[in-house]
Amino acid sequence: MTMAGNKRGPGPGRLIAGKKIPRHVAIIMDGNGRWAKKRYLPRIAGHRAGMRTLRKIVDFANEIGVEILSLYAFSTENWKRPPGEVEFLMRLPEEYLYKELPLLIEKNIVVRIIGEPAQLPARTQKAIKTALDKTQKNTGMILNFAFNYGGRTEIVHAVKTLCAEVGRGRLSVDEITENLFEKYLYSGGMPDPDLLIRPSGELRISNFLLWQLAYTELWFTDVLWPDFKKEHFWEAVLDYQLRERRFGGVSKF
Ligand code: FPP
Repeated sequence: MTMAGNKRGPGPGRLIAGKKIPRHVAIIMDGNGRWAKKRYLPRIAGHRAGMRTLRKIVDFANEIGVEILSLYAFSTENWKRPPGEVEFLMRLPEEYLYKELPLLIEKNIVVRIIGEPAQLPARTQKAIKTALDKTQKNTGMILNFAFNYGGRTEIVHAVKTLCAEVGRGRLSVDEITENLFEKYLYSGGMPDPDLLIRPSGELRISNFLLWQLAYTELWFTDVLWPDFKKEHFWEAVLDYQLRERRFGGVSKF
């Protein structure tokens, strides 16, 4: 159900009726560490608070009719963090997925993963596999987690797979097009994000969905991820609705 134009409630009512809800929203969930620091708390308290935000935003995105929500949960660069923090970041998805699974199933949400899960601890992999298996028949919003994900690694992975196909004689170099290349990405088959949200005041892409973000609308806010509320999500979607996407073409007006 889309709530655009709905006059109930202060937020969704402000979305513009008849204007599209972004099909695919990607979020870089940043600012957990700074949120904790401001409160003299350990960084992991920020990640825990970030997980609470994640729950609310998944719910809200689903409610307004977003089809795919991609969340940057752990990058290939995040291994450089202190071991205790990495360990905590590996345990959080386990906690989230087991706790939320009944609700995700009830809400018809499909869990998907992009990245290299094979390098994650066995317990984390198991939780991911359970969530993938138990939601694979669902038909609603895709909740796409980027775990051990790097945009450049993804592109190199796609290139290697394509080269191997060419090497085996299953594909000729001339057959390689943008459309074909896209199929070899971890996100193969998913539409590109329409909207990227990055909280915490950083104005970077940070190796997230490098190929897929080519024509994505970018939306930044200074709000730290643990303080990010559904009101901020509305604001981003509303802003998106007011933008004109030309994809390299010219204005219709
Ligand atoms: C970036 O903030 C955040 C992360 C690297 C982890 C994001 C993880 C969560 C929101 C927890 C929930 C995850 C799942 C999958 C349940 P930062 O630590 O870089 O913040 P800083 O820039 O303020 O230090």
